[in-house]
Order: sequence, then C-alpha cells, then structure tokens
Amino acid sequence: MSDAAASAAPGALRALWGVVKFLRRRPWMVAGSVGLLLVNIGIELSLPQFLGNAITHLGRGKGAADSFSLFHLVAAFAGLVTLRAVIGLFLGPLRNTTAQQTLGDIRAAVYDALQRQTFSWHDNARTGELISRASTDVFRLQDFMFVCLLFSVDVTAGLLGMLAYIFALSATLGWLAVAAMVPTVGAMAFFAARLQPRWRKVHEQHSAMSTVIQENIAGVRVVKAFARESAEIAKFRGKRDAFLAEMFRTVNYWAARVPFAQFLFGLGVPLVLWVGGRQVIAGDMPLGDLAKAVFYLLALGGRIGVIGQVTNIIQNASSAAQRVHEILNAPVTLQGGTRPWPTESTAATVRFEHVSFTYPSTPSLLVENDAAEPPKPPDAPKTARRLALDDVSFDLVPGQTVALGGPTGAGKSTLLSLIPRFYDPTAGRVLVAGVDVREFDLRALRRRIGNVFQETFLFSASIADNIAFGRPDAAREDIIRVAKAARAHDFISELAQGYDTIIGERGISLSGGQRQRLAIARALLTDPRIILLDDATSAIDPKTEREIREATAELCLGRTTLIVAQRASTVRNASLILVLKEGHLVERGTHAELLAQNGAYRDLFATQLTEEETRP
Ligand SMILES: Nc1ncnc2c1ncn2[C@@H]1O[C@H](COP(=O)(O)OP(=O)(O)OP(=O)(O)O)[C@@H](O)[C@H]1O
Ligand SMILES: [Mg+2]
Repeated sequence: MSDAAASAAPGALRALWGVVKFLRRRPWMVAGSVGLLLVNIGIELSLPQFLGNAITHLGRGKGAADSFSLFHLVAAFAGLVTLRAVIGLFLGPLRNTTAQQTLGDIRAAVYDALQRQTFSWHDNARTGELISRASTDVFRLQDFMFVCLLFSVDVTAGLLGMLAYIFALSATLGWLAVAAMVPTVGAMAFFAARLQPRWRKVHEQHSAMSTVIQENIAGVRVVKAFARESAEIAKFRGKRDAFLAEMFRTVNYWAARVPFAQFLFGLGVPLVLWVGGRQVIAGDMPLGDLAKAVFYLLALGGRIGVIGQVTNIIQNASSAAQRVHEILNAPVTLQGGTRPWPTESTAATVRFEHVSFTYPSTPSLLVENDAAEPPKPPDAPKTARRLALDDVSFDLVPGQTVALGGPTGAGKSTLLSLIPRFYDPTAGRVLVAGVDVREFDLRALRRRIGNVFQETFLFSASIADNIAFGRPDAAREDIIRVAKAARAHDFISELAQGYDTIIGERGISLSGGQRQRLAIARALLTDPRIILLDDATSAIDPKTEREIREATAELCLGRTTLIVAQRASTVRNASLILVLKEGHLVERGTHAELLAQNGAYRDLFATQLTEEETRP
C-alpha cells in the first residue's frame, strides 16, 4: 500500500462511518430493508437444494416417481420464487426511500454546518468548492447508501451461506471454493488500496472545474467587461481536460480488475467439477450434490463481481465522504456565551479596550487541496501579517452617533465587524452595554444590532420579504414605515407590483442606491439597539442622502450608531468622529476640532469641503 493510501485510510474509514451513522436516524426502515433482504437471500440459498434433490432423484430414471413427488417440488420452487418476487416489490421502494431520506438528512446537515460556520471559515472557502461538496459529493454518497443497505448484507450473508452449504456437502469442495476465493479477494484488495487516492484526485479536479463555472457565472459582468470570455473558456477547458484525464486514468485502472478477479475465480469451477465429478463416479457423492455445489459456486462468482463493484463504490464514496466530513466536522471556532440581552430597552454603550485584530491566515482544507494553486516557493519570506486594527480604544455613550472616517483599507469595516462578533479581536476587548460581547448569547447579540453592509446582498424574493428578512412576521405597515424612513417607499410604489415585486435573479434589477435603501430598511425593521452603517450612503445622490440622514437621525434616537462615511456632509454632523489609518485610531473629535488639528481628517475631506466650511 502506498504511503498516501496508508495515511488516507483511517480518515476515510472515519468519514464513511460518519455517513453510516446517519442511517441510525431511521432504524425501522433500515431494519425492514435488511430483514426482508435476508429473507430473500434465504430463499435464494434454498433453491439449489430443490434443484439438486430433483437431479439426484430424477437420475434414477423410471423409479424416480416412487421416491419423491416431482409436483410438490415444482410447486414449492414456484412458491418460493413468487414469494421472493413479492418481497422484492416492497423491498425496492422501501430501500430507495431509506437511502434518499438519509441523503436528505446529510444534505440538511451539510447546509446546517455551512450556515453555522464563522466568517473567517467562509473567508477561506470558495463558493464553488462548497457548492460542489454540498451537492455533487453528497450525490456521490447515494451508491454508498445502497452498499450499506443492500450489497454489504447481500455479499456477506450470501458468501457465508453459500460457503456453509458447500462445506456441508463436502469439506473438500468447501476448501476448494475457499482456495479460489482467497487470491481473488486479495487481488481486489490490492487494486482497492491503489484506487482510493486516485478517486480523491478525480473529485478534487471536479471541484476545481466547478469553481471555474461558479465564478464565471457570478462574475459574468466582469468577464464580459474585460472581454475575457475566450480566456475564461480556455481556463475552463484546461480544468475540464485535467478532470477528464484523471477520470480516464482511474476508470481504466478500475475496469481492469474485475475481469482479472473473475478469471482467477473462474478457475475454481473446473477444479470443483474435476474433484467432485470423481467423487460422483466413485459413488461417494450423489449427482445432485455436485450440482448443488456447482450452483452455489456460480452464485459465489456473481457475488465476487459484486465485491468488485462494492469496493469501487466504497472508494468513490470514501473520498466524497471525507470531503463532506470536513464540512460537517469543521470546528466552529466562535462560540456564543449564555448571557441574554439586558432587559431594559435603552440604547447600549459600545466600548473598545485596546482592541487589535489580524485576519486569520489559516488556509482551510478547502483551499489547501486545490491542485490549481501554484506551490509557494520554499524560500518565500514569512512576513508578519499586518494588523487590520492596532490597539484601538474608544467609548460611545448610549444613543450617540459616531462617524468613522479613514482611507480605504484603514480598517473601518473590520472595526464594525467586531461588534456583532463576526470575528473576535486578537487582543483587547469589545464591550456592549458594559459586557464583553463574548459573554452574550450570539443570537441575542446579533438580533439587537442592525447591520447595513458595504455590499448589499438581496435575496431572490419580493421587496417586502427582503425588508422583513430579520423579522419575517412583520406587518405590512411596519415594512412600509421603515421603507419610508429609508426613503425607499417612493421608488417601491412606482413599481407595478409595489412591495410584492420580485427582485434578484428572477426579477427586476435595482440600482446600487435603491439596493442600499432596502438594506437600510431591512436593518431598521428589527428595531436594533445599535446600528452599524457601512458606507451606506455612498451610492446615493446628495439629495436622497440628506433625506435618509434626516430620517435615520430620527430612527437613530435611542440607538447607538456607528456610521462609516465617505462624505464630509455625513461626517460633519456626527457628535464624534473617529479617524482610522492603517489600523490605528489616529484622530478623534468633532468636525471643528479635527479641522483645527490640520491632520488626517483634513487631508481626507479637504477636497469635499468649500472654503467656508474648512474654516473651523
Ligand atoms: N476577510 C478578510 N480577510 C483578510 N483580510 C481582510 C479581510 N477583509 C479585510 N481585510 C484586510 O484588512 C484591512 C482592513 O480592511 P477593511 O475592509 O476593514 O478596510 P476599510 O477601512 O473598510 O476599507 P474601505 O474603505 O475600502 O471599505 C485591509 O488591509 C484588508 O485587506
Ligand atoms: Mg470597508
């Protein structure tokens, strides 16, 4: 066994066991499937007995009618075959349902795991890769379900039963059958060990191909804008060719072993015929018994072919199972506390105490395995990652509106993301309402914070549903109230379907400013105690921006607001302005104070302010 296979084996077994465990959720269906299957195997094992006995008796020619009733035998045979067919009629659907429902459970578990994962985990994972694992890899487990519910039982019970019967007929023939099986199974195992790592490779190539497809669909505008279609097509072809080449290599290798194994086993039949035939000639064995042994042996040969299939399915599934397992068992590194949100519904204080933060650099497994990633030169300098935030401290009183300014990449969005614990600080503490945010129940904390992200994501749903995302049971009046506050009501009313207009992929497209206004309405609807607005007004014209500001000022009453702003007009009215630069909090104060300092703030906004305004 190669090193790679040896090291992959325990992980693969554990991953497969993780899949099998899902079957325990449906114990009765599994018991029913396996129980009925065992009955059918029993019937199959008994049929050669009838045939063999008939042959022995019929061999006596004319006198046969005295020793047994041909009619009874034929009737019993026909009865068993009918019973087997009837059981099969129920067994098939039962097994399918069990397998599909279990796959459904696995899909749901993968989806849960993806939803529960942290921001940093998702930062390091690629969407195409995740989609491939959640859909294709789970689909690949389908055959494995049938291995668990059907083939494993069928092969084990079948092989043991047939061998037992052959031994009962003649120990010599029994050992001959074993002798034919050992090298066959050995050859299968030899191939199996070599195939396992290859299948994983095939699946990785498939994911890499999926990632290209996904990114090109999501980024189709960029591709077209830069007229890069042909380059992207070539890129896809490259990934596809790599996938196909790996696939062909593996499949050809795999296909070679079944005929080889069947050949090895096939040599056993003439051997049994030779040894058993001589026993019959010598009068040591009834003719019917030899016939039984040959029937069982032929049936064994069929099972050996199934072993080939099964090992193939298990290998194919084990790499898929490993990839699914990695998602299901990725530790969730950010756990919530237990503290509920304080009962008094006043605005909350926000306090940063010497907060530093670096984005985690841990490349997740999802990235590491990509064959397309160019290998890092061994002597690549290990530069320390820059702190996204460096020793930031400030204190906000309840209800205060604070503006965050600073050049791009200064850490403004990062600062906001620490308050709802999208990430935890590397050093220092973030306190909300006087409590370290890590102590809060995560849901309770996030539900009290309204987020308007820098990039607006809207779901393919109606406008009303999008606004009500955080409070699906909200009344229509409430939705309209927040839409008016966010100055979205007017443009929504002009749409033919109004609030029921479907947006996103299936529906109409909205402008950047319109999307932002929906995002503001969405955040306001949950009646948060803290509002985090990230660049929320940058895509809105000055008039609308002023309207939003007025309306939000009203809604911000009683809420602590942090607003990242690129516009001097937004910043200047804030009671406190924090200026970030390369992760440092370099200036703080009011508009007038900061202008007087003649520093970073003035540099940032000077071009936007008129002569008169710059005079403190
Ligand atoms: N998810 C992430 N993973 C790793 N690094 C990140 C991530 N997001 C931001 N950074 C880095 O952290 C630093 C601060 O980024 P941040 O997004 O907070 O800046 P910003 O002030 O919001 O900038 P902008 O005004 O352009 O939105 C930057 O150097 C950026 O490259
Ligand atoms: Mg930002």
